[in-house]
Amino acid sequence: MPTVGALHAGHMVLVAEARDRADKVIATIFVNPAQFGEGEDFGRYPRREADDAAMLEAAGCDLLWAPTVAAVYPDGYATKVSVAGISERWEGEARPGHFDGVATVVAKLLLAVQPDLALFGEKDFQQLAVIRRLVADLGLPVEIVGVPTVREADGLALSSRNAYLSPDERDRAVALPNALKAARDALRASAPVSGVLQAAKQSLIDAGFLRIDYLALVDASTLEPLEQPKGEMRLIAAAVIGTTRLIDNIAV
Ligand code: PAJ
Repeated sequence: MPTVGALHAGHMVLVAEARDRADKVIATIFVNPAQFGEGEDFGRYPRREADDAAMLEAAGCDLLWAPTVAAVYPDGYATKVSVAGISERWEGEARPGHFDGVATVVAKLLLAVQPDLALFGEKDFQQLAVIRRLVADLGLPVEIVGVPTVREADGLALSSRNAYLSPDERDRAVALPNALKAARDALRASAPVSGVLQAAKQSLIDAGFLRIDYLALVDASTLEPLEQPKGEMRLIAAAVIGTTRLIDNIAV
């Protein structure tokens, strides 16, 4: 299971799931410069490797690999893995180059570790879809396992970035999962999609979110936007509260 560290209970559920499914569990910690854009939080991303290692050990992880940037991208490194289409929307539009950085490092980590299974959280739903596409397209001999999002008691998805929230922002951030749940319920009750999405966005603005990058109903495997309910669907959202950008998603 690859991570960028600053581990929390959500990551530990991945370890537990891995232990259930496999004999040996390997975690990686690598704050991957290639997936952070200009002006993003690469420099200030929380780094606490000793705490992370202790958490992983307590959760029953067998091996931690935390390579340096020079080990992953040595002098002269020139190769990039890019998954077209599915990488270009939503997170890809808001964070140009992000998924190229993710796909590149995940391909490298999978080739280095050669696991039977690799676990990723549904918290990063588009990332999981990009990785499924990558593994299928390159024929990498690994099974990708998606793990449901682990949430706080009030519903906020656990994220290393929640540490950036002030207490007041933390309280208001619950509007994000609440907006998605209300939208899901309205869609289940056959309310029209555009009105449902509009109401959900308004509830985020009312809660003090400063910017909504997207809040959309999408096909769960292609991430294409849906104007009418169809097949397996997901509601996905990214929005900024204070200076912190949060993402979340929910099955419909
Ligand atoms: P990171 O944010 O550290 O997340 C590592 C894994 O934990 C990802 O698969 C993510 O979806 C999962 N995860 C995080 N929060 C979760 C939660 N609340 N519930 C369930 N799973 C959760 O995602 C990355 O790192 C990087 O992009 C990476 C894939 C490691 C490539 O650098």
